[in-house]
Amino acid sequence: MIEVKSLKKSFKHFEVLNGLNLKVEQGEIYGFIGKNGAGKSTTMNILAGLSKPTSGICLVGNDDVTNIIQPSDLDLGYLPEDPRFYPWLSAYETLVYLGDCGTHKIKPARVHEILEWGGLDKDKDRRVGTFSRGMKQRLGICSAILHDPSLLILDEPSSALDPQGRNDVLQLIKGLKDMGKTVLFSSHILNDVERVCDKIGIIASGKMVLEKSMKDLEESHFQSLYDVVFEDKVTEAAMNCINSSERVLGVEINNQAMVIKMEDGHASVRSLMQTIIDNDLKIVEFSRRKRTLEDIFIKEVQGL
Ligand SMILES: Nc1ncnc2c1ncn2[C@@H]1O[C@H](COP(=O)(O)OP(=O)(O)O)[C@@H](O)[C@H]1O
Ligand SMILES: [Mg+2]
Repeated sequence: MIEVKSLKKSFKHFEVLNGLNLKVEQGEIYGFIGKNGAGKSTTMNILAGLSKPTSGICLVGNDDVTNIIQPSDLDLGYLPEDPRFYPWLSAYETLVYLGDCGTHKIKPARVHEILEWGGLDKDKDRRVGTFSRGMKQRLGICSAILHDPSLLILDEPSSALDPQGRNDVLQLIKGLKDMGKTVLFSSHILNDVERVCDKIGIIASGKMVLEKSMKDLEESHFQSLYDVVFEDKVTEAAMNCINSSERVLGVEINNQAMVIKMEDGHASVRSLMQTIIDNDLKIVEFSRRKRTLEDIFIKEVQGL
């Protein structure tokens, strides 16, 4: 759906993108993450046809974005980082107005359908100037899907919102996937990305430093660490037994508390439990410590 290769973009002498590669498959929710100023909006503006790259390949669907005449030639909906609306128009009037702007006019029934989908049907006649940030953001997503595009590019859709507002927006993004849409969205709230994405891409120093499906990331980066606290001090014999048991990769001990590094998979937990039972050790606490996307992000962009 999106294929970006060796993308470069400079503003005068300032190089923001320095050979970025990015690939989004059809039907995927892709989380584009990076520090402030990393170049996320710059990339998304190029993909939406709003800005020209300095060099590189940038394909969206069947179109090469460098060859389009105007942004509306692309089959995509775009939500800018800070969407602005006419404050004196109602939500309904806003969508009718935007629906009249394209070559393909939008019918009132479609506007009602979209407002209901965005949870704004009760507020459709309220002036947008009185809307909360979360409502404006949902109206922005409604505007982006009004013309029923296959791809949505959403620039920080949830970042400036409170937890309820963020949750509403994330639910809409999941809803877009259920409709069969492809979504590329940027965020620096990694917890949000983890909640909805199929794939992530981390941009740093103008390049993609890590691009992986969440499934592959779990296998390669989220190794299993277990915190186990025993009732009594563990004997050296028992400790050796745990250390040499099947699927255990390493053990650290601090009095009764142990951190055990395991191979992934449920079978490994079962064999660890069996070793503990065989050694007649009494457990006070047993929990899995999971690495978060935040840990991975910090590791990948550290020192860059
Ligand atoms: N039109 C512009 N002219 C000059 N510099 C720009 C322009 N747009 C963005 N930049 C710079 O490019 C860098 C990347 O910006 P941006 O793509 O907005 O980052 P992000 O969205 O990841 O926070 C920043 O240092 C920003 O100041
Ligand atoms: Mg940005």
